Amino acid sequence: MNGLKISPYISAEQIQQKVSEIAAQLSQEFRQETLVAICVLKGSIMFYSDLIRRIDGDVQCEFFGVASYHDATTSSGEVKVTLDLTRPIEGQHVLLVEDIVDTGLTLNYLKANLLARKPKSLTTVVLLEKPEALKVKCDVDHVGFKIRNDFVVGYGLDYQGLYRNLPYIALVQDLQ
Ligand code: IMP
Ligand code: MG
Repeated sequence: MNGLKISPYISAEQIQQKVSEIAAQLSQEFRQETLVAICVLKGSIMFYSDLIRRIDGDVQCEFFGVASYHDATTSSGEVKVTLDLTRPIEGQHVLLVEDIVDTGLTLNYLKANLLARKPKSLTTVVLLEKPEALKVKCDVDHVGFKIRNDFVVGYGLDYQGLYRNLPYIALVQDLQ
């Protein structure tokens, strides 16, 4: 690849186990309801597609494109919408599926943006959270793994557009 040193951090098996646990909780929470599941592009694609397949209930899919990192490993704090939802979510139960909370700025932006559209409920789920990197208070309903404040790739997460297709999560070495 591009010569970056990476080392395995969270295995595919650990991820799949966690995804099943979260999906079981969500299936329970939204048993009789239709859920509009929103995939935040691009980082959440793997997590999202694994998660919704294990939710036992009615799910509608929507995609929300945002860019907060511009080929760098630190957050710009600026969030740009690159692809909007295709329909209104007013009065719907909404599940926001995000890959990772770093500073918390992106998730807070996403939550505010979606809440302004008046969903019946908004539930947030993230695969990874870096508690030491948080710059703003950011409440998440379901967190897969709390990880150290290092840059990770794989399972949807990228470094300069690469590594999204790794089936596991790896630590990038020699960054910063
Ligand atoms: P935040 O606004 O700082 O919380 O950044 C959230 C976004 O930054 C995520 O949706 C990711 O796209 C990206 N990001 C943050 N940390 C990492 C990482 O370790 N690897 C890859 N992408 C990351
Ligand atoms: Mg993202």
